[in-house]
Amino acid sequence: MKEIKSLAVTGAQWGDEGKGKIVDYLASRAGVVARYQGGNNAGHTVVIGEETFKMHHLPVGVLYPGVICILGSGMVINPQVLIEELEGLHARGIDTSQLYISDRAHVILPFHQALDQGEEEMRKEKKIGTTGLGIGPAYADKAYRRGIRMMDLVERKRFASRLEEILPLQNRYLQQVYGHPGFNSSEILDCYLPLGERLSSLVTDTSLLIHHSLERGDRIIFEGSQGAFLDLDHGTYPYVTSSSTTAGGVCSGLGIGPRSIKEILGVIKAYTTRVGEGPFPTEETGEVGEKMRQRGAEYGTTTGRPRRCGWFDAVMGRYSARINGYTGWAVTKLDVLTGLEKIKIAVSYFCSGGHQMEQFPASLEELYDCRAEYQELPGWEEDITGARSLEELPPEACRYLEAIEELTGVRALLISTGPEREQTIVTCNDII
Ligand code: GDP
Ligand code: IMO
Ligand code: MG
Repeated sequence: MKEIKSLAVTGAQWGDEGKGKIVDYLASRAGVVARYQGGNNAGHTVVIGEETFKMHHLPVGVLYPGVICILGSGMVINPQVLIEELEGLHARGIDTSQLYISDRAHVILPFHQALDQGEEEMRKEKKIGTTGLGIGPAYADKAYRRGIRMMDLVERKRFASRLEEILPLQNRYLQQVYGHPGFNSSEILDCYLPLGERLSSLVTDTSLLIHHSLERGDRIIFEGSQGAFLDLDHGTYPYVTSSSTTAGGVCSGLGIGPRSIKEILGVIKAYTTRVGEGPFPTEETGEVGEKMRQRGAEYGTTTGRPRRCGWFDAVMGRYSARINGYTGWAVTKLDVLTGLEKIKIAVSYFCSGGHQMEQFPASLEELYDCRAEYQELPGWEEDITGARSLEELPPEACRYLEAIEELTGVRALLISTGPEREQTIVTCNDII
């Protein structure tokens, strides 16, 4: 096997860190871009000149002609949304002929969406704040060993027989627990079989494709969705998504071994945001948070919900660096902090019981109870969106980046100062 040239790019906070922008920036050098988890709950934005692309299912590498794009086994796929996304790109002149979908990826069906929405309604004030797209129930069916996979969807007889097994159970649950009328199997078949037919030529053993790419020595980017604190195992459970968002998920989600990942880049915003419910130790509900939301246009790409905003949290940064094994940061949206007189970074948490925490706790009670302890740094006034090197940044912005590096123990290899491709500072030319 030739030298491995692969890079995992994962979100280090609660999602929306700017993974789309960073993967797009790096993908010009890649031969393959592969997604390994999540579904259309993701919303990855890419801005190229006057054009904006919002990807939900597709890896952002699809915007480069010739780049092989993969939807891996660890994903859950809504075929209807995927086809709409493809058609939207075709209408804009984008060629997607290099796209492949894992035969082992699971399918999101209408009852998953109904279950997701029913569950959220029933939880009332304890709701998770999901995207309502059926992600959790589709992963739950996979874990229950009764999910329907892409290889089933594209085989008329197999799809019909798998649906006959699962639908009566799901209907009974929907009717008895949520008072939902349930779904008719022939209506689902009528709608989904043509979708399966349209996608069938793309469905293949994508682990084998990646294996061949690694053997050829292609550059491969593994594109993460969501973020470390939404990871099913390591996030702020139960306020998480239902997949493995961290670098560990790359292997299980694509069918490759751990030695196939060379570098791991954590995408981290220069402040913190969260969509949906759950603890958020550095949240700013007042004027500062509103300023971040307006200046950073912090509204969900998928649901349009206003994102909750707060200061950068180095306790979170350290934790996500540990659980992902980051070899570098891509710090994004530094420009959004321009004009703030003082900028704060959380360095530890202080609990009402009187103890200090340097490490991110598992307990929701502790997270709700704790108060973030801050280090304060001077802000800057200069517009930094045109900066292309560290030397062009004001000294206060450099000091802020250094503080992030020191407090998290990870070097900033990329700094993003605006949504566009070229609004990027590179401190290391050998990222991939
Ligand atoms: P993702 O889900 O991690 O890909 O992030 P989203 O696309 O959901 O949200 C990030 C938003 O910030 C998008 O609207 C991007 O266009 C935008 N963005 C990315 N990097 C920067 C940056 O450095 N500065 C500014 N101002 N916006 C950015
Ligand atoms: P990208 O890839 C931000 C959040 C939802 C909710 C929780 C569970 O754009 O960063 P789900 O529908 O996944 O069961 O919802 O996870 N969430 C995201 N938040 N960015 C995302 O994706 C998200 N995907 C899911 O808001 O709190
Ligand atoms: Mg997003």
